[in-house]
Amino acid sequence: MIRKAKTKDFTAIKKLLKGEKGLWDKNWRKNALELGITSSIDLSYVYEENNKIIGFVCAHDLGFRSYLSELVVDSKFRNIGIGKELVKKVEDCLREKGCKIIISDVWKNSIGFYKNLGWSEPSVILLRKRL
Ligand SMILES: CC(C)(COP(=O)(O)OP(=O)(O)OC[C@H]1O[C@@H](n2cnc3c(N)ncnc32)[C@H](O)[C@@H]1OP(=O)(O)O)[C@@H](O)C(=O)NCCC(=O)NCCS
Repeated sequence: MIRKAKTKDFTAIKKLLKGEKGLWDKNWRKNALELGITSSIDLSYVYEENNKIIGFVCAHDLGFRSYLSELVVDSKFRNIGIGKELVKKVEDCLREKGCKIIISDVWKNSIGFYKNLGWSEPSVILLRKRL
């Protein structure tokens, strides 16, 4: 079942993110997850089954465009449609808010997953700078 992420879920979500090798960035601030969820304003969802959080998605309405900042499904529960449901949930919410485009920087091995959902590569590149 999908529901909005709540403050009480932070520990379980952190565990889920840390359980996926390479997902939890060691440079993140201690409160990165809390900041992410708070700033997402109603666009953070968990997938819960038998009182266990097995999926998490976080997106942000940035006005000009929206951004999907995190997506993870517990490795024991993959390929049964949970990731797809989570992404569709935030896409639907953003569509309802009038947002026309969603972007994300994604791991190369998940490109097929996103393309399957209608995502495509834009003709721009992603730049970054360490602060
Ligand atoms: C990517 C991820 C979220 C997918 O979640 P999931 O619940 O296993 O995906 P779903 O079961 O909803 O898959 C939906 C469809 O995409 C396909 N799919 C799933 N993972 C895929 C992958 N890595 N590459 C290509 N296709 C994939 C499924 O076969 C399914 O196809 P179908 O609709 O034709 O049956 C999950 O593998 C994960 O958490 N990975 C680690 C973290 C990660 O990569 N996060 C995202 C980018 S940073």
